[in-house]
Amino acid sequence: MAWLMTFIHLFCLFIVRMSALNFFPEKFELAEKHTSVTLTCRTDKDKITWRREDANSIVSILQSDFEILSGRDLTVIDLQEDLTGNYTCWSDTGLEDYTYLLLDKSKEATAFKINCTAETFSCTQNIKCAWTSDEFTAFRLRNTRDDGDWVSQSVDGEFFLPHSTNSYSEESERLLITGEAVSTCCYMKTEYSFYLRDIVKPADPSISICTIKNEGRDEQIVELEVKPPSTWPQPHSFFPLKHEIEYEIRHNGELKTKEWEEGSKVKVQGSITKLRVRCRDLLLLSQWSEWSKWKNVN
Ligand SMILES: *[C@@H]1O[C@H](CO)[C@@H](O)[C@H](O)[C@H]1NC(C)=O
Ligand SMILES: *[C@@H]1O[C@H](CO)[C@@H](O)[C@H](O)[C@H]1NC(C)=O
Repeated sequence: MAWLMTFIHLFCLFIVRMSALNFFPEKFELAEKHTSVTLTCRTDKDKITWRREDANSIVSILQSDFEILSGRDLTVIDLQEDLTGNYTCWSDTGLEDYTYLLLDKSKEATAFKINCTAETFSCTQNIKCAWTSDEFTAFRLRNTRDDGDWVSQSVDGEFFLPHSTNSYSEESERLLITGEAVSTCCYMKTEYSFYLRDIVKPADPSISICTIKNEGRDEQIVELEVKPPSTWPQPHSFFPLKHEIEYEIRHNGELKTKEWEEGSKVKVQGSITKLRVRCRDLLLLSQWSEWSKWKNVN
């Protein structure tokens, strides 16, 4: 008998896994734990019955202390996880309506923050956000300030949100990003508000080495030019960047850095093996970009 129980157990686990809610139900109702909620069957039929489909079963709903039937209404009392699921209502001719009842955990779910960056001030590039949690199985974000549509994750787990910020004028209103997450039982909503200028992180710049002058065994002058990231807004004189270079000294492998603000060209002196560059917005002191790839100096 034991093997049969094990088999049934495994089978149920399999079904639970298969039916994890990995999309947003088309229609859903929310209520907090221990509250009551009334679902209404949108139909013109008078005689209806209700069913609840949860992760691994379909239950016909009978009048009880927890579920009160009245005409086309079903009131769920003292909501807890076991009463969440897809509620369907049926007449003698078939399915009439459905709604997915979820436990709203917005106030209690463990804090996990939406994290966004933007490569530029310009609305030509979407804002890139990360948001995830082990407790939930589907996520979506929207730019509420600009009345944007819901956006789902791309294959590598990031969200790309359009916005209408004008890069040529002072940003007067914060962006407001709304996030919603669901799992088979539960729902949560969170908001994140910021100025675009505070999340700017330029893409990494590219470098070209212009001249190398050898002036003796250990003396070398390397002149290089840094190109702003292709997504950086133009004209570049209007959106100046500050740069930092990191370079390796040939004879002892020591790494040195140097920052500069004026222009895209810089000279480094000494015998060096390789170098790389990163940039940030000069006026607003944005986050630094990632470092460019190392470039060898011969
Ligand atoms: C709920 O049930 C209805 C009717 O069977 C179905 O169309 C809908 O996709 C179900 N929703 C979910 C999230 O399973
Ligand atoms: C936000 O995301 C960036 C890059 O994706 C990461 O480096 C940073 O640590 C994250 N910040 C937080 C607070 O999670």
